[in-house]
Amino acid sequence: MAKAKKNYYCQECGYESPKWLGQCPACKQWNTFVEEPKVTIKSKHARVQLEQDNKPIKLKDIVIEDERRMSTQIGELDRVLGGGIVTGSLILVGGDPGIGKSTLLLQMCENLSQQTADVLYISGEESLQQIKLRANRLSIDSHNLTLYSETNLESIEQVIKANKPDTVIIDSIQTIYNPEITSAPGSVSQVRDVTGLLMRLAKGLGVSIFIVGHVTKDGSIAGPRVLEHIVDTVLYFEGQRNASYRVLRAVKNRFGSTNEIGVFEMRDIGLTEVKDPSAYLLSGRPMRAAGSIVSCCMEGTRAMLAEVQALVSPTNFGMPRRTATGTDYNRVVLLMAVLEKKLGMQLAGYDSYVNIAGGMKVSEPSLDLAISIALASSFKNKPILDYTVIMGEVGLTGEVRGISMIEKRILECKKLGFKRCIIPESNQSTLTQIDGILVIGVKNLEQALTHCF
Ligand code: TYD
Ligand code: MG
Repeated sequence: MAKAKKNYYCQECGYESPKWLGQCPACKQWNTFVEEPKVTIKSKHARVQLEQDNKPIKLKDIVIEDERRMSTQIGELDRVLGGGIVTGSLILVGGDPGIGKSTLLLQMCENLSQQTADVLYISGEESLQQIKLRANRLSIDSHNLTLYSETNLESIEQVIKANKPDTVIIDSIQTIYNPEITSAPGSVSQVRDVTGLLMRLAKGLGVSIFIVGHVTKDGSIAGPRVLEHIVDTVLYFEGQRNASYRVLRAVKNRFGSTNEIGVFEMRDIGLTEVKDPSAYLLSGRPMRAAGSIVSCCMEGTRAMLAEVQALVSPTNFGMPRRTATGTDYNRVVLLMAVLEKKLGMQLAGYDSYVNIAGGMKVSEPSLDLAISIALASSFKNKPILDYTVIMGEVGLTGEVRGISMIEKRILECKKLGFKRCIIPESNQSTLTQIDGILVIGVKNLEQALTHCF
């Protein structure tokens, strides 16, 4: 008998290799390769037969049907989905364990079933009693919501085909297995095969399917990244577990724009929408404190104010410590080098800590100027003038460079009661007059500092 073929798969991104490797050449993660049997020939043949009546078709002959969308009645979720759930789409919701994926989807199920949609919630993780307990906590008591506790893909397929629900939730993909494949549930080949079948079910029956995928750090089970290319929409739930603030981010969306975010707060009654994230993020901000600066970043089409904090204090050791939370560490180190060189600030003898308050993660360069001024303000131990927002990118020669969507940002600052905006000079020249807020254009770091103190 021929030896069964085996391959090594990266549990992080699904990269396939005939040999074991220490580091994955695709995603650069270490120690993520696990041996798994290859997908059996039998199931490959079955797949070919299924798709036989599919033929190439001329572009002009394709009829566009209007996408049918269904609102989830959760504004922030609808926004991330691009205006509601598209019928027949496959949506992946990824995130760390315990971040609130099941909670959000259960709340969504309640709203959908209120609109007389048939919803089937399939859980491979929790018992029906556990889900009922959570539903009670969220005050969910819906008649159209059906629960099903199962991990066998064949049974799930039968139930979906028999019941023909409008929406199905699979919680989570890593617990579901196809008995035809010999590898363990949660392995790359299982997760891929199960998702492939769900995709065919979604498209064939016109069911919208939500898949929950846990992000794992140790690579013991395959992460949602393995599936990103199969599904229509990828949403990631982010946030620190101890902070109540959660961000739902669209990473891929075949039916809407990406980079759109939805903001939620985890409360004892479940997830609630945060309609005005800027106000929420700035609440509790200290007034007239050195090292605290408000800046504005863009999240998709939405401007959001964020508080940048810096603490610069003399170091007790030879090597000064530098940390950055919520922003890019290398960017912070670079900005400190610019401050040293261009403004003569001797930061070498100081520990420096930079933090974006509220657990936010921002990688946009428009925060550069705010980070630099926050460091300078803490170094000088002087707060900046009240009601001032600072934004702009800083170049290596200390120049302040233009940023995108400046008007939207300034209007957001005005809405929250700020009186002055320090922006790049190149942006000011293209800006139409905005009443009620003083806009100051600056060319470089030095000019920015003179307007701040
Ligand atoms: P859960 O949705 O089970 O996370 P996931 O499915 O992503 O693993 O959320 C679990 C956390 O949420 C848990 O730590 C408790 C908290 N939580 C609340 O704070 N309020 C609530 O109403 C609910 C249902 C959960
Ligand atoms: Mg869960």
